Amino acid sequence: MDLSEQIRQLAHRKHAVIMGHYYQRDEVQEVADFIGDSLALARQAAKTDADIIVMCGVHFMAETAKILCPDKKVLIPDATAGCSLADSCTADQLRRWKQSHPDHLVVSYVNTSAAVKALTDIVVTSGNALHIVQQLPTDRPILFGPDRNLGRYIIEQTGREMTLWDGCCHVHARFSADTLHRLRERYPNAPVLAHPECKQDILDQADVKGSTAALLHYVKAHPEQKQMIIVTENGVIHEMQKACPDVEFIWEENVCEYMRQNTLEKLYACLRDETPEVTVDPNISAQAITCIQRMLDLS
Ligand code: 13P
Ligand code: SF4
Repeated sequence: MDLSEQIRQLAHRKHAVIMGHYYQRDEVQEVADFIGDSLALARQAAKTDADIIVMCGVHFMAETAKILCPDKKVLIPDATAGCSLADSCTADQLRRWKQSHPDHLVVSYVNTSAAVKALTDIVVTSGNALHIVQQLPTDRPILFGPDRNLGRYIIEQTGREMTLWDGCCHVHARFSADTLHRLRERYPNAPVLAHPECKQDILDQADVKGSTAALLHYVKAHPEQKQMIIVTENGVIHEMQKACPDVEFIWEENVCEYMRQNTLEKLYACLRDETPEVTVDPNISAQAITCIQRMLDLS
């Protein structure tokens, strides 16, 4: 029996659900019960009846699942799978920022630690940020963090002023505007699909901007396109290619080292030994749940 089959059997026996983000390795995506973007993973965690959630993603995603399901065991194949963007704003830094802007609403991207969420008024993902920010009271100024690129994109799309934290995702910041320019010249009929964590010089060249799920949705809705240029972590192309096998996807090589720390071997060991487990301090969890629940209610 191959490793994927052993994982499936173990998950079934333990009544565990395996969730995976689109940026996971192809073989991890294939073995998961459910794959999705950050928003879909949070929604799925909120409604699962499994006893164990194995989050094949990065640490903040497992924390979010634990906050939503405090009575369930939440596992992650590699506990050191972090996120440079989440690390760019600590709870102490956010506390000081809030103190210097006492009248502001705090809107945080889901790519943040549980401790940062505990200091947040409302969480957003790239899949619902525009929709949620448009619903916020107009008489309150907004602090948005930690991703300055997503923040700038929200301001441009909604016209809502926000003060931005100066953080970014090192993976999306690595995409080169010159490389994209050359790809566009070489494939003039291919639309460019980019994630809003990309820098402005990339987004300026994009035809479609959105979360991983939104980009996948566009791909599925346009099977007539012969070629498409994808500017986000390369893992999402696996699902795109499965959905549209006849489309030629073009991309610059770029993967998130944190996401790729989860392997089938670590997933098997994690299910077998029920470790590493992700826990959240109950006091932090009790505060953080409010801003996550607000997001789920408004999205
Ligand atoms: P989405 O899946 O919400 O688009 O997020 C991208 C990301 O960087 C997750 O870490
Ligand atoms: Fe974090 Fe960027 Fe990796 Fe997403 S792709 S987990 S934002 S470092």
